[in-house]
Amino acid sequence: MSLFDVRARPGGEEEKKQEKRGVPPGVEHPKSDSVQALEPPFLSACRRRPVPHTPVWIMRQAGRYLPEYRAVREKVGFLALTKTPELAAEVTLQPIRRFEMDAAILFSDIMTPVEGMGIRLDFDPGPVLENPVRTPADVEGLRVADPHETVPFVMETIRILRGELPPSAPLIGFAGAPWTLFCYMVEGKGSKTFIRAKSFLFAESEASRVLLGKLADTMTAYLRAQAEAGAQALMLFDSWAGLLSPHEFRAFALPAVQRTLGGLEDLDVPLIYFPNNGSTLLDEARTSGAHVMGIDWRTPLSRARGILGPELAVQGNLDPAALFAPREALGGQIRRVLEEAGDGPGHIFNLGHGIERQTDPDAVAYLVDRVHEWTEGRCGSVASVSPGVAEAGHARIGEEAEG
Ligand code: CP3
Repeated sequence: MSLFDVRARPGGEEEKKQEKRGVPPGVEHPKSDSVQALEPPFLSACRRRPVPHTPVWIMRQAGRYLPEYRAVREKVGFLALTKTPELAAEVTLQPIRRFEMDAAILFSDIMTPVEGMGIRLDFDPGPVLENPVRTPADVEGLRVADPHETVPFVMETIRILRGELPPSAPLIGFAGAPWTLFCYMVEGKGSKTFIRAKSFLFAESEASRVLLGKLADTMTAYLRAQAEAGAQALMLFDSWAGLLSPHEFRAFALPAVQRTLGGLEDLDVPLIYFPNNGSTLLDEARTSGAHVMGIDWRTPLSRARGILGPELAVQGNLDPAALFAPREALGGQIRRVLEEAGDGPGHIFNLGHGIERQTDPDAVAYLVDRVHEWTEGRCGSVASVSPGVAEAGHARIGEEAEG
């Protein structure tokens, strides 16, 4: 089996699995938009359409908990890995080969596109900046970057992946949300409190707005280029949203998210926003412009749905630490998340934040398989609704108006 050939599982096994997962045998992956194919469950759930089972993927699903990822990293540094399309595509595919994931996420980092704005970047293991932003003049000196000039390797990675991924695993492109990128750019490195970044926000409000605006415009162009290269959904990671009060979130972070996502409205691509630690911000985040809200493990999905209303799909939210529980207890935790998500359409199962590097990959396999097994015929699934609606859920891409 070649490195990239994820489809070549022996004995027609993959075909059987794909049939079970809502993709009939013989349906090839759409290499171009002119080829019609059934909508994969992940995209149906993003659009709050019926699904054959609750789709599942995992934040940071490509990473150091996988021995095959560590093997690649022994030979190549993290930055070089993100900048070499064949290798970035290879590690994106690793969790897709191992597990029945319903989506793949581009292997890159939220900091990748900010280098092109004029920032010098390294990783140890998180982002470290040589020239952090400390004054309004530093903000003035930053460019709005053109992704085609500064990060062409990302679009090349996406093109390779679209030729390799099975139809059951659509490709998610992503970017950091302006506020989270602001945190790293001003602080210069990771932090628990990001006190320098927060101080700058309060002391230099005007320069902060300018910086958030430049970040928003850079991320809009970056995400648009990813969609044009073949990304089938786009996710905005706001890892440090929870550092802000609702007042500061509304005044600074949210307008920058709205500006980013507003610039992508015309694309026929689901938009996902993940305000981490955002229990107190959901009322505000509801107006982000996203179709799907990522929910961290602190907020029960039923509560989140109550705040967000029926117009938004939700993604989440098992505590990553639950993967360290014995199987039976883990099963109980998975069932609880599914119950809190309820029977309506529009739930994508995920962790409530990135997977921990000490996690046993077998626990991930257990999680993915149980979510599929326990939701077949449930959760806005095709079997749980009337035949007419079920047909709509299986509509061919391009035949049905956007929902
Ligand atoms: O999810 C995936 O599988 C796709 C790849 C991905 C990475 N980073 C790879 C990575 C994604 C989506 C990210 C996003 C990212 N990067 C975020 C937002 C998500 C979140 O966790 O809140 C943030 C805050 C970053 C910044 C960043 N990059 C940090 C804090 C670190 C260190 C993390 C750690 O685990 O030590 C990184 C480095 C990084 N990005 C790694 C990976 C796989 C580890 C690098 C290594 O191999 O040593």
